[in-house]
Amino acid sequence: MAKARKRFVIAGNWKMNPDSAEAAKALFSALERKAKKAPKASVIICPPALFAPLLAKSAKKIALGVQDVDARERGAYTGSVSALQAKSIGASYSIVGHSERRAAGDTDDVVAEKSLRALEAGLKLILCVGERQRDANAEYLQAVRSQLLAVLEKVDKKHSSSIMIAYEPVWAIGKDAKAPLSPEGIHEMTIFIKKIVAERFGKAIGLKTPVLYGGSVNAENAEKMLSDGGMDGLLIGRQSLDAESLSNIIDYATKH
Ligand code: PGA
Repeated sequence: MAKARKRFVIAGNWKMNPDSAEAAKALFSALERKAKKAPKASVIICPPALFAPLLAKSAKKIALGVQDVDARERGAYTGSVSALQAKSIGASYSIVGHSERRAAGDTDDVVAEKSLRALEAGLKLILCVGERQRDANAEYLQAVRSQLLAVLEKVDKKHSSSIMIAYEPVWAIGKDAKAPLSPEGIHEMTIFIKKIVAERFGKAIGLKTPVLYGGSVNAENAEKMLSDGGMDGLLIGRQSLDAESLSNIIDYATKH
């Protein structure tokens, strides 16, 4: 019997882009049209929280996510967005622990609290982990492991099916990055991450938990990553703002 094809996750993180609601709506409808024609890929878009309610109405095939949630449930925290609020406007995912939030001060403990708020509110979690740099002694593996366990040890097993891990080596993210991780490297890290999830929740859950790769993914390198990287999907920054590039990536995800 032929092996069932993987249903790849293609997630876009728009970060603090685009500049206007009009531009966000136009980009989103172009992507929604594409996603409709690609039923075999799971497309998730995480716009700025302010734009999410404006896009929720037209989100049919695309699942909507936010880029972060507060570590507290509610209260006097000026400027913050809660997981319950995100859920109430139609978001079904939240990124938590992105390296740009970690750089802005989110410790492992804060990331764990944010993850718990997201899961308790009924959001699915896209938990980002990734080392700042690689070293010859492979200490980066320990860094990734401790970021993961800081969250997984606090999460109840009943929430395990709502968790995806996005492995994003910090050195591969953004316009200053020289190159993404190779498909072979992605494959290795995917196995490593699934093993850690398995240590915490058991083998079956470890194998099932989706692992995404993020960091300088583009329309040129995505195909090889999807065919040889052994992961379950991609988390895409810059190229998720370009409807044509993201559409090409969605096509590859459908093909492989
Ligand atoms: P990039 O960002 O695709 O622009 O490198 C990835 C991310 O930060 O999620």
